[in-house]
Amino acid sequence: MSDAMPLSSDSIPVGDVRDRLIIGLDVPSPDEARAIVKRIGDAGTFYKIGYQLAYAGGFEIARELIAEGKKVFMDLKLHDIGNTVEEGVRSVAKLGATFLTVHAYPQTMSAAVAGKAGSNLKILAVTVLTSYSDQDLVEAGYAPVSTDELVAKRAGQARDLGIDGIVCAATEAAKVRAIVGPNLAIVTPGIRPAGSSADDQKRIVTPGDAIRAGASHLVVARPIVKAADPRAAAQAIVKEMAAALA
Ligand code: C5P
Repeated sequence: MSDAMPLSSDSIPVGDVRDRLIIGLDVPSPDEARAIVKRIGDAGTFYKIGYQLAYAGGFEIARELIAEGKKVFMDLKLHDIGNTVEEGVRSVAKLGATFLTVHAYPQTMSAAVAGKAGSNLKILAVTVLTSYSDQDLVEAGYAPVSTDELVAKRAGQARDLGIDGIVCAATEAAKVRAIVGPNLAIVTPGIRPAGSSADDQKRIVTPGDAIRAGASHLVVARPIVKAADPRAAAQAIVKEMAAALA
């Protein structure tokens, strides 16, 4: 059904609504990751591995998930000199991952696009970290620029350099969608089903509203991983996404 959706693209894997829900494996050990994946079963098809698990055996988990037919998002937020980024991306492509994040600096994005050539890996650009304020940018040495302006500028550069998608807050999704057009993925964290705890997220959006704002994929961790019944939690979110897509 999602094949007919305006946000789907031949290059982005969204053939099944479950493939639009990326479950964040924000756990400290491979055994905890295996246990949660087992509990979720076929309700989860796409998992995100970030710093915490990546540096604690996460590549082994990525290989296991891919061997089981699951999709894997390596949230490694790469940024280095071009040659190093290109070779690192090539290694992640060989692993068989579906998504990989890089910071949205033009050199880094160009190198990542070169490194994934010939593979099925899709590169997502992180424009400006959502923990940064305008003042944080000044502290980091940028000439006065608002985070909004920098997000817009970097989203346009990502589109022009052949990046496959953007990671942004759901509250920014509509603006980013207008810049990048219909074919790039827009991947949004900060998702909370109505009635669930916000945890430390400041600007939360429900799964349905994120899809309606233009997100193609949602990243959800604690509302699933910490739920009493993670499988039921994932199923409820997929149901809400499917309703928003219908
Ligand atoms: O538990 P929760 O659903 O809030 O987790 C969201 C996931 O998305 C975490 O892995 C977090 O690191 C990631 N993320 C985020 N906000 C961003 C970028 C990534 O919450 N701006």
